[in-house]
Amino acid sequence: MVVVSGSNSGALAQDLAEELGWDHHSLEARRFPDSEGYIRIPESAIEAVRSEPVVLVSNTFPDSGIVETLLLLEALRDVRAGNLENLKGIGPQQMDPVGPGVFVAIPYFGYSRQDKRFRPGEAISAKSIGRLLSAHCDGIIVFDLHAPVALEDMPVPVAFTSAMPEIATHLQNTVHPDFILSPDKGAIERASAVAQAIGLPFSYLEKTRIDAHTIIHKAKDLDVDGKIVAIVDDMIATGGTICKAADALRLQGAVEVHACCTHGLFTGGAIKRLMNHVNGVHATSSLANSRAVISGGPALARGVKELLAGL
Ligand code: R5P
Repeated sequence: MVVVSGSNSGALAQDLAEELGWDHHSLEARRFPDSEGYIRIPESAIEAVRSEPVVLVSNTFPDSGIVETLLLLEALRDVRAGNLENLKGIGPQQMDPVGPGVFVAIPYFGYSRQDKRFRPGEAISAKSIGRLLSAHCDGIIVFDLHAPVALEDMPVPVAFTSAMPEIATHLQNTVHPDFILSPDKGAIERASAVAQAIGLPFSYLEKTRIDAHTIIHKAKDLDVDGKIVAIVDDMIATGGTICKAADALRLQGAVEVHACCTHGLFTGGAIKRLMNHVNGVHATSSLANSRAVISGGPALARGVKELLAGL
């Protein structure tokens, strides 16, 4: 099989290909001056994507990533269907179809947070994006999705994979934590998997979100006096959640606090804000940023293997 990527996940696609021992091909993805995207499967990759099933690694973030992912999937499907007609008459115009076999591995699934309809008339965005992708591929691998339930009834197979094993190893080797904290109930499963992997005590905070920039944590006694604590979450955006949790930990005597997540969105000066509250920020390479110190390759590879094993 082969791994391919467009403009947003080349390094991670290369890591995935190395993990799986497959070839990686970069596809052409660039922007017109008006910001619309142009994509093309280069001639050098046509034989590879026709001779074997393909895994496209592509983020559906920011919005332009959604369009790019859909166009890449359509172009891959066209090439595999043998639809190569082109106005310049380059190469064979039609070839035999080679059957289904286009899969998408999504490091960061944009729109994952709107996974429920809170008020009438709202789009359930995570589901909508999932359905759009499903219409253009034969299976989806998704990496630490905020709420997996959003993609549980898709018309194509979906494999969920997580970086918690790699996060546990990274923390153990670099931070040597004594305690793992989930900053809210939503991250309990992930953070407790890290605590269990390292063999550490674990707890969580109860968080109420007032708006995108304001959250409140309910006071809770934590046994963190004199301890190094790692807070584990699926994503960090503004950093507000982590800053509040870190403050609560410091008040209770934690000597060092580290923030760790799969998806480092780090919006609007988040890293600067975080560094006033924590000793270190650690993220995976699902999104390119200065704190992406943990490769997402092994987790994506597990997801790809699980998806293929279930077909
Ligand atoms: C929400 O439930 C997520 O798991 C994160 O805790 C949240 O999205 C982080 O956002 P921020 O960094 O803006 O507080």
